[in-house]
Amino acid sequence: PGSGAVGSGSSSASAPQGARASASAHPARWHVPSGAPRQSGVTTQPGTHAHWIGLDLARDAMKDDLRRALVVVDDTASRFVAGSTPLPDVAHELAFDAGGVAIAVGLGPRVFTLRGMRAKAPSWLAPIPTMPIDRFEKPWDQTDLVIQIDAANPVGVSHAATQLFSALKGIATPRWQQRGFHAGARPSDAGVTRNLFGQLDGQEQPNVDGNEADRVWNAATTAAPWMEGVTGMVIRRIRMDVDVWQTLDRASQENAIGRRLTNGAPLTGASPHDPIDLEKTDELGLSVINPAAHVPRARPAKTGERILRRPYNYEDARADGTSDRGLIFVAFCADVAAQFVPIQRRLAEADLLNTWTTPIGSGVYLLPSAPRPGRYLGQNIVEA
Ligand code: HEM
Repeated sequence: PGSGAVGSGSSSASAPQGARASASAHPARWHVPSGAPRQSGVTTQPGTHAHWIGLDLARDAMKDDLRRALVVVDDTASRFVAGSTPLPDVAHELAFDAGGVAIAVGLGPRVFTLRGMRAKAPSWLAPIPTMPIDRFEKPWDQTDLVIQIDAANPVGVSHAATQLFSALKGIATPRWQQRGFHAGARPSDAGVTRNLFGQLDGQEQPNVDGNEADRVWNAATTAAPWMEGVTGMVIRRIRMDVDVWQTLDRASQENAIGRRLTNGAPLTGASPHDPIDLEKTDELGLSVINPAAHVPRARPAKTGERILRRPYNYEDARADGTSDRGLIFVAFCADVAAQFVPIQRRLAEADLLNTWTTPIGSGVYLLPSAPRPGRYLGQNIVEA
């Protein structure tokens, strides 16, 4: 696993070649290939389409069942991104044009209650405490495993999901799948895209390639060497009442967030990265930025609280012309309890956006580091 090996059954010479050609145009990312051992799909540029699969191990699962699941996922994912495939019928054509698929795999809290896994989890690996705004619906809650697939090409995403489902049959049972999309960011925007409220989302982010890498990535400790390159993933499904939102005037919409709809600039500035001035008042003496707006509430209250957000829109369109729409809010941080939870608590306490948004699902996962060559994903934790 992880070698990028082409499936042994690929007798057609042209298929793997085609796959290689396409892979260089859109480099597929299973393991981040060099440097720090980190999974793809976290700090890599988010593909415009994404698919999350939440799966459970059997109730009476043992550590060996976890090991089997990880070996199979690792093997399937690495074959897929190499342009090979374990499924002969859909085979190479779909893998050719996968559009730079990135795959990330996470472990839920219950995995660390299996015998031989206890005491290996960091203390932050626990479901987000229930908030007064939560209205969870089945089936969108915590699962044992999560697989995130993202790419520029939705067909590539679908193909990868099909293969992973099929490989995991009999090893782990799917509980939910979620599909997300966004318009893609212009390079100058570095990951900022519009959500279904029309807001520019993903603007204020930690500098993960520079001095804030430790907001996302853990370092090894003597007691837990496997924490090197580990990150925490939070996925929350948040319904957005687009029908009511679009009846508001633009001033009310901008007031709810504290930033302009046109270019994302704070209401106290002209360009997106102008500082947010919470002291500024208008001629009536009222704050220009409402202190209960989303941005002033979500801003870090102390250094180190920043999280990397990777949100996607979702829409389930119904036959009757209505739609269930919202955000698949995905965030990565080194310590979910110290970084994500305080932000979420503040938002639950007061956030003007809460009038039009409802969290309907939540999960927290540990993403192991990317495996060294010849090892499978998570081996350094499972076999520690
Ligand atoms: C449907 C739900 C949500 C919507 C529509 C939404 C939308 C936005 C928008 C438009 C911005 C301003 C632009 C930007 O910096 O990206 C923003 C900022 C932010 N949001 Fe959200 N958001 C939602 C949920 C959440 C949740 C659940 C959290 C975390 C618990 C969160 C945390 C943040 C943070 C940390 C910022 C940056 C604040 C700053 O430092 O300026 N958001 N959000």
